[in-house]
Amino acid sequence: MERVRIGVVGAGFMGGLHARVVAESGLGHLAAVADPDAARGSELAERYGATAYPSHEAMLAGERLAAVIVATPEPLHRDAVVAAAGHGAAVLVEKPIAASLADADAMIAACDAAGVPLMVGYILRFEPAYARIKQAAEAGTLGRILTGYARRNAPIGEGRRLAGRTTVVNYLAVHDLDQLLWSIRSAPVRVSARAVRGKIHEEFGVADFTWITVEFADGGLGVVESGWALSEGWAGWSTPAAWGGFGDVELNLIGTDGVASLDFTPMNLYGVDDREGWRLPDTRHWPVINGRIVGALKNEVDHFLDCVATGRPPLVDGREGRRSLELGLAADRSIAEGQPVDLPLG
Ligand SMILES: NC(=O)c1ccc[n+]([C@@H]2O[C@H](COP(=O)([O-])OP(=O)(O)OC[C@H]3O[C@@H](n4cnc5c(N)ncnc54)[C@H](O)[C@@H]3O)[C@@H](O)[C@H]2O)c1
Repeated sequence: MERVRIGVVGAGFMGGLHARVVAESGLGHLAAVADPDAARGSELAERYGATAYPSHEAMLAGERLAAVIVATPEPLHRDAVVAAAGHGAAVLVEKPIAASLADADAMIAACDAAGVPLMVGYILRFEPAYARIKQAAEAGTLGRILTGYARRNAPIGEGRRLAGRTTVVNYLAVHDLDQLLWSIRSAPVRVSARAVRGKIHEEFGVADFTWITVEFADGGLGVVESGWALSEGWAGWSTPAAWGGFGDVELNLIGTDGVASLDFTPMNLYGVDDREGWRLPDTRHWPVINGRIVGALKNEVDHFLDCVATGRPPLVDGREGRRSLELGLAADRSIAEGQPVDLPLG
């Protein structure tokens, strides 16, 4: 089978991981990388024998690509996605789909008009334990879901790396808002959120931690706790590098007939050493095993490549990406206005 020719837009943290997964895949061929940071783009492209371009426009003009992965900062997703669709390329865009509903609508419309799939990179959909909870919810094992609680608190290094470019809601909580929407099939009708300020607010002017409450039409309740200011002590071991720490992460659904719960804080593994103390490395999202990235990110990219090759619809498309974005934007509005926000957003 011919490999899917792929270009990656944005050679930063996630773009680098996507590029590596594609380069290691037997299904895809990493043809090009686009990034206005010439050093970063060239370094990533050269590592995998791809061509570097200074922009997505130059990349799309210079290459025949079947698919494009967009991993730029959130407000820049729209331009790259619309341009890729205009060239007939299938698109995998990192979460959240965009920074505004207008951008999301334009991206969905462009991909619909071009007849290309638009997938949103909600990695937890491809994490087996999260997917097993979804299966239990869908099979009716839990009965009617009464409460969903999710937690995603990252070490402060992540808050500092993002440096206020987005909110913790639209960077972290959206993962869990998408999970609640995935398992609780009732429509969300109201969002209330509060934020607290700490070091990240002092340094960058955005909140450190937020708690979001989502009310569903069937009376169910979701709570998402998220933040990016956990103690530095959560950061991963420097050696081995692949022992990067993740954070404090949980999902707990309580239904009328059952409970499903996961705790990813230790992700099945913890260790301690004399120099750096206790560590809880990632074993699920993108650990490197035997020289290759395995886990949820690889599952996600494989799924995308399979959709491109077979024409199957992606598990999480633009419209689903828009739903979690809407919840995230409602939460940020509720924080700003100090009162609950009704859905859909006006
Ligand atoms: N799925 C996950 O677990 C996960 C984790 C982290 C980030 N993300 C998402 O991935 C996306 C990227 O985040 P990141 O943390 O990798 O960002 P980053 O800052 O590490 O990288 C962004 C890159 O985009 C480049 N860039 C800026 N403008 C560009 C343009 N016009 N064209 C092409 N490239 C441009 C920057 O030079 C940089 O190299 C965001 O949507 C973010 O929310 C997802």
